[in-house]
Amino acid sequence: MAQTWTPNSWRQKPIQQVPDYPDHTALEAVEGRLAKFPPLVFAGEARRLKSALANVAEGRGFLLQGGDCAESFAEHGADTIRDFFRAFLQMAVVLTFGAQQPVVKVGRIAGQFAKPRSSGIEKQGDVTLPSYRGDIINGIEFTEQARVPNPERQIMAYRQSAATLNLLRAFAMGGYANLENVHQWMLGFVKDSPQAERYRKLADRISETMDFMKAIGITSENHPSLRETDFFTSHEALLLGFEQALTRVDSTSGDWYATSGHMIWIGDRTRQPDHAHVEYCRGIKNPLGLKCGPSLTADGLLELIDLLNPANEAGRLTLICRFGHDKVAEHLPRLIRAVEREGKKVVWSCDPMHGNTITLNNYKTRPFERILSEVESFFQIHRAEGSHPGGIHIEMTGNDVTECTGGARALSGDDLADRYHTHCDPRLNADQALELAFLLAERMKGGRDEKKMAVNA
Ligand code: TRP
Ligand code: MN
Repeated sequence: MAQTWTPNSWRQKPIQQVPDYPDHTALEAVEGRLAKFPPLVFAGEARRLKSALANVAEGRGFLLQGGDCAESFAEHGADTIRDFFRAFLQMAVVLTFGAQQPVVKVGRIAGQFAKPRSSGIEKQGDVTLPSYRGDIINGIEFTEQARVPNPERQIMAYRQSAATLNLLRAFAMGGYANLENVHQWMLGFVKDSPQAERYRKLADRISETMDFMKAIGITSENHPSLRETDFFTSHEALLLGFEQALTRVDSTSGDWYATSGHMIWIGDRTRQPDHAHVEYCRGIKNPLGLKCGPSLTADGLLELIDLLNPANEAGRLTLICRFGHDKVAEHLPRLIRAVEREGKKVVWSCDPMHGNTITLNNYKTRPFERILSEVESFFQIHRAEGSHPGGIHIEMTGNDVTECTGGARALSGDDLADRYHTHCDPRLNADQALELAFLLAERMKGGRDEKKMAVNA
């Protein structure tokens, strides 16, 4: 039987991936301060996202979730945020227009600071130090001082999240996301890429449609949906002390919500059903993500679904599948069958990044063709099983980085050194993200046409 949940009941459970803070008094003081800070998001927004995801779970619409692997304090600037948002809007518009389906837009941003690590220590030469765990915990520099977990960083992460979210809200609601600007979202360095021409053609068609609508009296002034977009935030809820401090009762419903972001997810390394991360997440009402990797059994998944979504509420749970291009065919079908058999309502999302990481020339990279291949398999398998391929979860940036190989510009292993800036995992650059969006739109459209034919037959 489930025990009573409280925002701190996770503290009674075993826990993985906890930083070793040397000063517990300082840590408690920081958590106490955070608990008095204003929430970053409002519960009503989380409910709105949940109802948008409920539509996706029922086969209508698509979840686009993406952003940095890890946000960093050093790269906190208006240009980085704007360029990410532009690339993300381009993807969203390609998917919406190309597949003629609503797209639920969720960034891995404004809170994505804590990283699980495969090892607690890092060795360079004869020196062994604690691993870097994300800017909210310690510093990336390989020095003893930087690697000591420092609770003050949680305050900095909170403030950076607030500032980032503020700008994103302004962009989403203040006119930047207006469909009349569809041409302006093209980033400078993408302008002469093979994707640019495709994007320009699509943007021309949208502009033409907008002109027609204007002629008949439908404008972005009298129709806010042309001018505004709902943009939500998400991150991995890894640092539970921080999450607990931002867990608040919603005064309208009396329910507990995580107010650090609209959606939070549980990582593949911290999803043990009797451990702390699952305990924390089961008690809050936000939409949740659950990362599903090769070690997850069908029964293990069903147990987690019962813990995290006992009422089988559509939109509550998104299964973010990250198997690897060569393993997805082995693992995804058995999970889909178990979920379908038990009638569980979930959003199926594909993370084609985390199972496709390799090392090349001493860089962690991801070959773009493997990413595409996992996405292709994800769609094919869902078509075969009769379930809805509901979303994509990617690590991307609006900057012109060289972190993943391949793509239309055919980045090679030798190019990686040029602009390899990530603090953690390799991200798609704007060019590669747009290329992926076109592929997704085609696959989504394919599925829709098949459904239509089935209905007409
Ligand atoms: N409001 C709609 C939506 O969010 C249409 C829209 C406005 C839109 N600006 C957008 C769609 C930017 C994609 C990208 O879907
Ligand atoms: Mn990552």
